[in-house]
Amino acid sequence: MGEALNQLLLSKVLLCGLLLHTVSQRGLGTGETVEKKPSFIIILADDIGWGDLDVNQPEKKTNNTPNLNLMAQQGLRLTDFHSPASTCSPSRAAILTGRYGLRNGVIHNFGVNSVAGLPLSEITLPQLLQQAGYYTAMIGKWHLGHNGPYSPTNRGFDYYLGIPYSNDMGCTDTPGYNLPPCAPCVSAGPEVIRLRRSVHGGCYSEVGLPLVENSSIVEQPLDLWTLTEKYKSAALKIVHSARARGQPYLLYVALAHMHVPLAPPFSPDTPAARSPSDGAYTASLRDLDGLIGALKTASDNDNTLIWFTGDNGPWEQKCQYAGSVGPFTGKWQTNKGGGSAKQTTWEGGHRVPTVVYWPGRIPANTTSSALLSGMDIFPTVLSLAGVTPPSDRRLDGIDATNVVLQRQHTSRDFLFHPNSGAAGRFGDLEAVRAGKYKAFYITGGAEACGGGKGEQQLHDPLLIFDLERDEAEETPLRLDTPEYELVARRVAREREELLWDIATDKSVSTADYSTDKSAAPCCDKTQAVCRCYTVPREDIKTRRKH
Ligand SMILES: *[C@@H]1O[C@H](CO)[C@@H](O)[C@H](O)[C@H]1NC(C)=O
Ligand SMILES: *[C@@H]1O[C@H](CO)[C@@H](O)[C@H](O)[C@H]1NC(C)=O
Repeated sequence: MGEALNQLLLSKVLLCGLLLHTVSQRGLGTGETVEKKPSFIIILADDIGWGDLDVNQPEKKTNNTPNLNLMAQQGLRLTDFHSPASTCSPSRAAILTGRYGLRNGVIHNFGVNSVAGLPLSEITLPQLLQQAGYYTAMIGKWHLGHNGPYSPTNRGFDYYLGIPYSNDMGCTDTPGYNLPPCAPCVSAGPEVIRLRRSVHGGCYSEVGLPLVENSSIVEQPLDLWTLTEKYKSAALKIVHSARARGQPYLLYVALAHMHVPLAPPFSPDTPAARSPSDGAYTASLRDLDGLIGALKTASDNDNTLIWFTGDNGPWEQKCQYAGSVGPFTGKWQTNKGGGSAKQTTWEGGHRVPTVVYWPGRIPANTTSSALLSGMDIFPTVLSLAGVTPPSDRRLDGIDATNVVLQRQHTSRDFLFHPNSGAAGRFGDLEAVRAGKYKAFYITGGAEACGGGKGEQQLHDPLLIFDLERDEAEETPLRLDTPEYELVARRVAREREELLWDIATDKSVSTADYSTDKSAAPCCDKTQAVCRCYTVPREDIKTRRKH
C-alpha cells in the first residue's frame, strides 16, 4: 500500500476532525449542544441487484423504488460501490469490522447448526459507537452466529429484533425455495391449513424460522408475510424514542428483502401478486422501498445519515425471483455458460446499488463513481461520529468522508474481491480492481438461471478488463500491449503487499465453522419444527367462535 496511501489516509482523518469541529461550532450558534452527534441508519438489502434501483437505469423507466430515487435526488448515489464479498456472512462481517475476510476470519456462510460466528476477537462498529454513547439497535438478518456470545446483543447492539440467518434457512423443506410454501413444512391439522389459505390466497405462510428479540425467540415458526410490518414498527419505535431521549443512535437494518422466499404483502385487491408470474420480485422491491420511505420520513430533520446498500448481487439461478445486474452482465463468464452474479467475483456479484442521504450535509442530486467498498462504511461512520478507530488492528476500509460530504472524487486505489462460494477456495483474492481496470487471478461461475455452471479457471497471465470501455466484462485486454503490462505489474505488486500485510498481521482472526445439531435455534424442542406454541393463536380464537 505504501507511504503515499498512509499519508492520504492520515490527511483524511485530519480533515474529518476539522469538519466535525466546524459542525459543533455551528451547532452552538443554533442552540444545540456541542456534543450533538449525527445518527446513522445503515440499510442492507439482501441479494439486491445494481439494476434494481430505478435511477441506476433511467432508460428502463421503471418506478419500483420511488423513495430511494428521491433519496438519491436529495443526496448522493454511488455507482461504483461494492459489497466486500459476494455472499452473505462474509459481506456482513466485513461491513461490521471494516476488514477483509482473510483478517476477520469470515470467508463463507454460517449455517443453522453453526456453533460459533464472527470471531469474538473482532471489534464491531456498533461496539465502538456504543462505547461512544450511541444507542445501537439492529433489525433484521444477522447471519454472524446465533449462539450465546455471538448474538447481536453480545456484539455491540443494545437492542435486536430479527432472524438469525437467511429467510430460507428455517424450514424443513430444502433451503432456497422461492415463495413461502403452499404446502406446510410442518404437520398441521387440516383446519389450520384451511384458515391460512383463506388468509393468504392459498399459501401456507409459516416456516420453521425463529424471530429473535434481544436473545430470546419470540416467534417460531415465523410468519414471513408480517415481517416487514414488524420490522417497520420496531424501527420507527427506535428512531422516535432515541429522538425523545436526545441520544444519537446507530440503527442497522438488514432486510430479508430481496432474498427468496419472496413474501410481498398480500392485499385482497391484488391477489395476483401471489402468483409467481405476476412479479413477486417487483412487488417485494416496492415493499422494501416503502419501508425505506418510512425510515426516511421518521428520521428527516434529525441530523441522521442513511446509507443504503446491498450485501451481494442477485441470486441468478432464481430466474424471475432474482434481481437485475444492470449492464454488469459478466459476459466472459456467461458466454461459457456460468452465472456471473451472487457468489462470483464478476461485477454482478458485488457491485451493489448504493445511496447515501443526509439532508443539509450531503449536497443534493450528486452522483459519484468513486471506487468504494462496504468495508469503508466502518471508518467513515466512525469519522463522522468523531470516534477513533481501534489502533490495535489493521483496517481495510478507508474513510470516505470527503466523497460523501464534499463531492470529492477520492477513490480507493485498489479493491480486492474474495471468492465467496463459486468454484474455488473460500476467501481467495480472486480479482483486483485497480482504477478502471479489473484483473482476475481466478474466475468461476455460479449456477445460472437454467442450470449452467462455470468451472474454476486459473489465469496466469492475468485476465484484465477495462470496465470503462467494457462494463460487461466481455473482452479482456490483449496481452501484448503496454497498457496490459503496466496494469498487470501494478496489480501483482499490490496483491503481494496485501498478502504479506495479512500474513504478518497479529490481529488476524479465525472463525470456528464447526456445526452441531443442538446449535439450531429452537423455541421448544418437543414441538414439530421447534414451535413456540401448538396451534397458532388466532386459529384457536377462530375455532372457539365456531
Ligand atoms: C429487549 O430489550 C429491550 C431493552 O433494550 C426491552 O425493552 C425488551 O423488553 C427486551 N425484549 C425481550 C423479548 O427481552
Ligand atoms: C439532477 O442532476 C441531473 C444531472 O446531473 C439533472 O439532469 C437533474 O435535473 C437534476 N435534478 C434535480 C432535481 O436537481
